Amino acid sequence: MRIRIEEASAHAGAEVEIRGWLYHKRSSGSIHFLLVRDGSGVIQAVMAKQEVSPSLFAAAADLTQESSLLVRGTVREDSRAPGGHELTVRDLQVVGLADPYPITPKEHGVEFLMDHRHLWLRSRRQHALMRIRAEVIRAATEFLDRHGYLRMDAPILTPAAVEGTTTLFETPYFDLGNAFLTQSGQLYNEAAASAFGRVYCFGPTFRAEKSKTRRHLTEFWMLEPEAAFMELDEYMEVAEAMICAVVGQVLDRRRLDLQEVERNLAALEAVQPPFPRLSYDEALNRLHAAGKPLPWGEDLGGDEETVISSAFQRPVFVHRYPAKCKAFYMQPDRDRPDVVLSADLLAPEGYGEIIGGGQRIHDLQLLQQRLREHHLPEHVYQWYLDLRRYGSVPHCGFGLGIERTVAWIAGIEHVREAIPFPRLMNRLYP
Ligand code: 4AD
Ligand code: MG
Repeated sequence: MRIRIEEASAHAGAEVEIRGWLYHKRSSGSIHFLLVRDGSGVIQAVMAKQEVSPSLFAAAADLTQESSLLVRGTVREDSRAPGGHELTVRDLQVVGLADPYPITPKEHGVEFLMDHRHLWLRSRRQHALMRIRAEVIRAATEFLDRHGYLRMDAPILTPAAVEGTTTLFETPYFDLGNAFLTQSGQLYNEAAASAFGRVYCFGPTFRAEKSKTRRHLTEFWMLEPEAAFMELDEYMEVAEAMICAVVGQVLDRRRLDLQEVERNLAALEAVQPPFPRLSYDEALNRLHAAGKPLPWGEDLGGDEETVISSAFQRPVFVHRYPAKCKAFYMQPDRDRPDVVLSADLLAPEGYGEIIGGGQRIHDLQLLQQRLREHHLPEHVYQWYLDLRRYGSVPHCGFGLGIERTVAWIAGIEHVREAIPFPRLMNRLYP
C-alpha cells in the first residue's frame, strides 16, 4: 500500500510503499541507513545486506542526495527513530538519480541559498516555515469566515494608487495607458463592504519600495478585512481577536514546526488579550524617554517600531497618527482633526508593524478635499466617491501582512524566508 510518511504510525507492521527523495545516507558495511523524505515527513529506511539482492544493495550504495525513489518495506515501531517509526527495506527503485546536490549539510551563505531557493525549499527548516505560513493563512481566513466575513477578491491590475504614488509598479495597458499593480485591495473592499457588510480579500500586493530591510518585500501577501458600520475601537477588537486566534492555532497545530525553527513558545503563549493601546503621542513620549526622539508628524520607522514593540510581551496598537503621515482615506478624529482614526498593530520582540488599518472617511466633500491635497486624480476615483454618495456609513478595515506575521510567529530574522519565492529590490530570481 502506498502511504505518506506522516501516516506511518497507522501502518506499523504493514508492507508499504513510500515515494520520495533521498535526504541523507549513511552506511556501515552491511547496512544502509537511508533517510527518505516525501514532503510530509522524513523516515529512516534501513536496508540490510542479507535481506536484499546483492545488486540492489550495491545500487543503494551509489544513491546520491535528492535522488527520487520508490521504497517498499515494513513499517517498524522504534522509539529511537525520528517520528517513532522506521522502514525495513525489501525493495527499492530509483526514479531519478540526482546530480551532485549543491546544498550540502555544510553552512552556505544566504545569497547562495537564495539563488537556490527552488532547492532550498526542500530543507527541514523551510518545510517548517512553509507549514507555519499555511497555518497562519488558514487560521486567519477561518477566523474571518466564522465571523461572517465574505471572501471577495480584489483586482491586481488597477488604475489608481491606494498607499501613495511613490511605490507604484507601472505596466503598459493596451489603449488605456498605464495600469498599476495593486498596493492593497482596500478600495475595492470598501465597495464590497457596502454590498455585503463584512468582506475580506486575500492576495498578492505590490510595493516598488526602495527599502532593503528585513521587513520589506516588493511582492507580499495581504489579508484585508473590511466592515461597514464599524468604528475604530471595534476594529481593534476584531484585529486583536484574529491575532490571538492565529497564534493559538499555530501553537496548537504547528508545534513541531515551531520547535524545528527553535521558536520560544512561551513568548507566543503570552499573546493574550487585551493588547495595550498607545496613542501616537504616547508612543512619541516613549521614544523620547528611550533616547530616540521623533518629531511630531513623522511616521514611525522600523527602528522606532522596534523600540516600542520591544517594551511589551504582547502585540501593541498605536492609534491616532498624525493625518499628514497617513494615506488620503483616513478618517480624522472628531475632537482633534490633525490626527486620524488609524491603528497599526506592532508585533512584540522587536518585530514591528504587522497590521495597518483604521476608519475610512465616509463624508464625500472631505474625501474630495483629501484627494486634492494628495494630488490624486479625482476622475479615476469616481467609483470610490460613489460609495460616499449612495448610503455612506462609518467603516473600518485593515491589512495583515502575511510574511511579517509569519516572520514574527516563527521567530525568524528576515521576511525573505517567510514566502516561497521572495521578490526583493535586488532579487527577481528564481
Ligand atoms: O500599512 P499598509 O500599507 O496598509 C494598507 O495597505 C491598507 N490599505 C490595508 C487596509 O487597510 N486594508 O500595509 C498593511 C500591512 C503592513 O502592516 C505590513 O504587515 C504589510 O502590509 N506590508 C508589507 N509587508 C512586506 N513588505 C512590504 N513592503 C510591506 N508593506 C506593507
Ligand atoms: Mg502601514
